[in-house]
Amino acid sequence: MGEATGATELPPVTDWVNDWDWLDDGWGEHAIEIWNDVRDQCPMATTERYGRAHMPVTMDAVTEIAHDTEHFSSVFVSVARPDAVRRPAPPITSDPPDHHGHRRLLLPAFSPKAIAPMEDDLRRFCRSLIAGLEGETHVDLSERYVQHIPVHGICQLLGVPESDADMFRDWIFRNFQLAPRDNAVREQVADEMAAYNDRLLDQREAEPRDDLLSLIAHAEIDGEPVSRELKRGYVSLMIIAGIDTTWSAIGSGLWHFARHPAQRAALVAADDDVLLWTTATEEVLRYYAPVTMGRKVIADTEVAGCPVREGEQTLVTFPAANHDPAAFEDAHEFRIDRARNRHVAFGLGIHRCLGSNLARLELTVALQEWLRAFPDYELDHDRPTTWANGQVRGPRSLPVLLRHTVL
Ligand code: HEM
Repeated sequence: MGEATGATELPPVTDWVNDWDWLDDGWGEHAIEIWNDVRDQCPMATTERYGRAHMPVTMDAVTEIAHDTEHFSSVFVSVARPDAVRRPAPPITSDPPDHHGHRRLLLPAFSPKAIAPMEDDLRRFCRSLIAGLEGETHVDLSERYVQHIPVHGICQLLGVPESDADMFRDWIFRNFQLAPRDNAVREQVADEMAAYNDRLLDQREAEPRDDLLSLIAHAEIDGEPVSRELKRGYVSLMIIAGIDTTWSAIGSGLWHFARHPAQRAALVAADDDVLLWTTATEEVLRYYAPVTMGRKVIADTEVAGCPVREGEQTLVTFPAANHDPAAFEDAHEFRIDRARNRHVAFGLGIHRCLGSNLARLELTVALQEWLRAFPDYELDHDRPTTWANGQVRGPRSLPVLLRHTVL
């Protein structure tokens, strides 16, 4: 590896079994093929690019790691340079027994009862983005529509200003696409976020409102005040976990339906058929699961017969598990009416996604409103779709052609 804080230039991957790299240019668009190829050869790939780090590709191996907090710690939730300083962002970076208190604190804000009332506002928001495309025929669907929806959702819930959206996306880009290979970027983003979060927490401490930020500003666990460092971590986690995750899922879904007109037509015709829409959005989540997590190995063990040693890192490749033919019938097929779909896009075990109700609502609403408005949209083949690599994978630029129908 290079200098302690500088970026590491690495050659393109040619051997995904022994030298995988989630920041390789091939990963974004081709990760599913990569995982399937690796799975044909072995259950777990390795690399030395981030120190020694593993990449499980079967449902069994991913499940084993996600449930085993004795050997795998969440202090590292991203496979990055092993000398990177990791800052806490509970509950995602917490292990038992601390994890439970942090999760319990935030859980009510994400319950179905708290999230369901957001639907009307989200629909209005999507329609206003669509109205803004009036008369346009060539648009970047990611830039003009998809990326704004989760920002709107999390800003409403958390209470951070939506006008800071560009800054949030810039933090997310640097944190996921650059920081795993560059400790200086990691530190810089963490410092910028800490300063921002401190300002907001100071405001809410002084003047509480009816938002999650105010709850965090006054957080206590078992009667003990939570430290400022951990409160900053909660806010960072909400911003990081709440935006490009759902942005990726919506973008992947719309990319998919642009390329599969028969499925798109079936969904347009289904309109209010809740069952078909439910199975279709769950299939988007299975097939294009955007989030891959990481763990630090804290005690020697074995996974799927492969030794893993204390101090090494591992991915928890939930999206790869979703393509394991041992776990899904015809795993390679995208079926909008897949009835049995026990996908793990939202993770497994104690860290299972807190935001899944919000993510599902945003995904369904965004897909429905788009397909209603533009049932005949197509990919613009003159301009490429680009994909984010690494921890949160999905389209970042998605040029499409629109035909406007009179509504
Ligand atoms: C399609 C969108 C999303 C996907 C696929 C997704 C996926 C995941 C996954 C796989 C985990 C498990 C992490 C692990 O095992 O280390 C997780 C945890 C988490 N997610 Fe999501 N997520 C999504 C959207 C959201 C949203 C909108 C929020 C809202 C802020 C959110 C907040 C969280 C939190 C707080 C955790 C940590 C839970 C814990 O550690 O107990 N996620 N998510």
